Amino acid sequence: MRGQEIISRLRTGWMGREIRVLDEADSTNLRVKTAAGEGASAGLVILAEQQTDGRGRRGRAWQSPAGENIYMTVLLRPDFEPDKAPMLTLLAACAAARAVYQPGEKCPQIKWPNDLVMDGKKICGILTEMGMKGGSTEYVIVGIGINCNQTEFPEEIRQKATSLKCEYGHEVCREEIVARFLQEFESLYEEFARRKSLEFIQDEYETLLVNEGKRVCVLEPGKEWTGVAAGITETGELIVKKDSGEICEISSGEVSVRGVYGYV
Ligand code: BTN
Repeated sequence: MRGQEIISRLRTGWMGREIRVLDEADSTNLRVKTAAGEGASAGLVILAEQQTDGRGRRGRAWQSPAGENIYMTVLLRPDFEPDKAPMLTLLAACAAARAVYQPGEKCPQIKWPNDLVMDGKKICGILTEMGMKGGSTEYVIVGIGINCNQTEFPEEIRQKATSLKCEYGHEVCREEIVARFLQEFESLYEEFARRKSLEFIQDEYETLLVNEGKRVCVLEPGKEWTGVAAGITETGELIVKKDSGEICEISSGEVSVRGVYGYV
């Protein structure tokens, strides 16, 4: 990954204006967290060619082989309350969907809240973490992993993971995708900072939502139930209609969702 190739394509105002491309990192989220503690400015982006301790949601590992994919973390310093931070993850998913889309190719979909999938397999995961100081948000870091040109996957994720190259049938330019992501994310973030709601992106998100109108299995601590997904609220909860007709709004921190027959 060439930093100059990203910079020459960047059209952002502040996001990615400071960009560090590392040959290797334990985790770009960890690196940005450290930089945030040292006073780095909002918009800092750290990328790595490979990660030795890539992290996923719910304490899982994120496999991060060298030279094929995007492993990137963005530092934000929002002035809104900590409870709004999870919404940034949904914004990042929309930005990633826009960034990887290529006219004439398959369209990515979103598995709520923030996985990008193609043909039912995952191409992108997002891990958002927050630092607090005295009850307010000190920083939010948004880490994104996009499977770009990888074609071989370890046995344990082969059924669930794919890449843009596998789906499009040709290599993609990682620098171009990074630059497009930063541009889309900056503009969505600024709009969100003005409105403090996801209403402006609800239609687009629901159009991309792979779960929309489908039966989903909601995994709550200690119990499991099914219902039909019916969009998101303006604060990012998934709306699920139970068979009894009851409408539930579920938030990503508490539960996870999968299709009744598998991952989506
Ligand atoms: C998930 O779907 O579980 C989230 C995966 C997030 C992976 C990215 S890769 C860049 C950044 N650094 C990490 O250690 N994790 C995120």
